[in-house]
Amino acid sequence: MGADHIRTIASSVPSARVSAVYDFNRDTAYAAASPVGADVVGSAEALIESSSVDAIIIASPDRTHAELVRTCLAAGKHVLCEKPLAVTADEAYGVVEAEVVGGRRLLQVGFMRRYDPGFVALRRTITDGTVGDVRLVHAIHRNASSSTSTDDAGLITGSMIHELDTIPWLLDDEIVGIRVESPVVDGFRDPQLATIWTRGGVMVTAEVFVNAGYGYDVRCEVVGSRGTASLVPSEQVSTRVAGVDGVPVRDDFVAHFADAYRIELSTWAGEALTGDTTGPSAWDGYVANAVAEAGVASLASGVREAVSLREKPAFYA
Ligand SMILES: NC(=O)c1ccc[n+]([C@@H]2O[C@H](COP(=O)([O-])OP(=O)(O)OC[C@H]3O[C@@H](n4cnc5c(N)ncnc54)[C@H](O)[C@@H]3O)[C@@H](O)[C@H]2O)c1
Repeated sequence: MGADHIRTIASSVPSARVSAVYDFNRDTAYAAASPVGADVVGSAEALIESSSVDAIIIASPDRTHAELVRTCLAAGKHVLCEKPLAVTADEAYGVVEAEVVGGRRLLQVGFMRRYDPGFVALRRTITDGTVGDVRLVHAIHRNASSSTSTDDAGLITGSMIHELDTIPWLLDDEIVGIRVESPVVDGFRDPQLATIWTRGGVMVTAEVFVNAGYGYDVRCEVVGSRGTASLVPSEQVSTRVAGVDGVPVRDDFVAHFADAYRIELSTWAGEALTGDTTGPSAWDGYVANAVAEAGVASLASGVREAVSLREKPAFYA
């Protein structure tokens, strides 16, 4: 993900330049830094504290995020942290507290779907009244294969976390309960199916299947009192070859969400230059982690779990 963000900045974000890269694996750092002429530095701290670095992107493994974000906040630097903000809700709340103490919004969490033209258009069908009062949402999220979500809880905190942020944003509503089930009883519980309830009375189903085999597939259907709105993968070219009529399915999220990443990064870079970050906040990151935690508990308990949130600091109003 980090290497792809570097490529996107170099090709499509003229207001930013990648000046330094750190990766735990030095060869990986050189492979990512060399094509764009960036320096490779010896530690995350050296990169964050460097006077030639204005803003930082964190794309290391999930468990490293919260601590690295706190280092960026302590240095007073803007930071875009890949999702999830943390692995546990407590850890995420620690970041919220650190940002509030600092008194400036410096953190954006990498929930890039909020920038995806398709999801933005889907949201508009709700806000402009096209579909009427929303009753149901059906979300699907499938990867061909996954190397990052490899255990039951990680599927929720690392992959389903996208749906757990998208749903409240789409509906301008709050998730109050979640039940997660899986048809797999032995081994890695993949796929998982979440049933989600919102404060406003909407029910949501979210299927996440990270080893679906055939390709990358993200869909979402909103069902309202006046009609439905469906976000389906759109391909420009449908072929009929060798007796087969069909459209290709993309391989992975990089191709599927290319526009979303580009808009996310250019918006973030522009706002970091002017000092006003308006994207998904530390609070949004904490909320997604809190819902994910209830989801992990539900997978074990087999029943609906309530989501309990701490008080929202006025800072994020
Ligand atoms: N927004 C999205 O759509 C999206 C998609 C994929 C991944 N992600 C997130 O991006 C992050 C990276 O995922 P990935 O698939 O690229 O993983 P990856 O395992 O392919 O890459 C992680 C890199 O981090 C390096 N690393 C490990 N520990 C480190 C440390 N302490 N400091 C610095 N570097 C370290 C590794 O050497 C590796 O090169 C994850 O948090 C993942 O959840 C987000």
